Amino acid sequence: MSSRELVVGVVGATGAVGREMLKVLEQRNFPAKEVRALASKRSAGTLLEFKGKKIKVEELVPDSFKGMDLALFSAGGSVSKKFAPIAAKDGCIVVDNSSAWRMDPEVPLVVPEVNPKDLEKHKNIIANPNCSTIQMVVPLKPIHDQARIKRIVVSTYQAVSGTGHKAIEELEKQVRALFNMQDVECNVYPYQIAFNCLPHIDVFLDNDYTKEEMKMVNETKKIIGDNSIKVTATTVRVPVFYGHSESVNIETEKKITAKEVRALLTQFPGVKVLDNPKEKIYPMPIFAAGEDDVFVGRIRDDDTIENGINMWIVADNIRKGAALNAVQIAEELLKRELIP
Ligand code: A2P
Repeated sequence: MSSRELVVGVVGATGAVGREMLKVLEQRNFPAKEVRALASKRSAGTLLEFKGKKIKVEELVPDSFKGMDLALFSAGGSVSKKFAPIAAKDGCIVVDNSSAWRMDPEVPLVVPEVNPKDLEKHKNIIANPNCSTIQMVVPLKPIHDQARIKRIVVSTYQAVSGTGHKAIEELEKQVRALFNMQDVECNVYPYQIAFNCLPHIDVFLDNDYTKEEMKMVNETKKIIGDNSIKVTATTVRVPVFYGHSESVNIETEKKITAKEVRALLTQFPGVKVLDNPKEKIYPMPIFAAGEDDVFVGRIRDDDTIENGINMWIVADNIRKGAALNAVQIAEELLKRELIP
């Protein structure tokens, strides 16, 4: 890694992902000589903790990026659309967690275990993929390299933290209200999320899929770098605080057995295989929360097609699905000397 010490900004530092970004920068001892926290005017002046010291949240303004080397953005699509080009013009490299730039052909969309080389063509904006997509493509990459994946059918079980801190509060409040025989209030989600499942993440599109579902379809192809992979997704919000789960069925061109998949994944960085049905060992959000790895289990041959595999993938959506992946991108940029 380069010996350079950077001025790093976290945009959206008071949010669920922004707070985790600060935590991950600290835990991984990212080489920053200064870390700045930015958010909206509403929370300017709030104190956040970093490496045992208090840092004061600054209001995000167009001049915020002067003298800043790297900015990790997680303040929503409209903030990214407006401010990422301003930062980029000021020579600050942006790693953006929103969906604003992901499908822009000029912008690399990167999961460091999968397509780190794509960083080499960056023009100061790099997109961090959708949380459900990140955790799916990490274990699929070595399988694709070995057996070429033709088709993916995925159903997700996504935690409320993916929607942000207000959604975490909404689930907490609804659970408390229901245990006290009170009516629930729905502000973030259109229906009660406590003790329920909502087959609706992000907005519905003209084709009746949700935007989240189409993110999984389009981003998977871009990250793996193979437009011929067919992907179909159903994304569901479930009453879990941290950790997305996914049931994934793949069809490959070449035969690969469940046993071979298990062996491949055991070797692959960032993946931990938890797969021993007889001992009741399989991944679950309660184990994945707070962890860095993508956990894979329930790996089975799908005998209904010639070359098919089923698996169950779980990861902490705020860490590998967002903050950790963003910091890993920054580390990879340093390693490849792509930060001027
Ligand atoms: P703020 O606390 O000032 O509202 P989450 O995804 O958990 O809801 O967090 C969203 C993050 O994005 C928060 O840090 C929030 O800051 C920040 N944010 C939202 N709108 C803006 C804006 N217009 N300018 C800067 N930061 C924003």
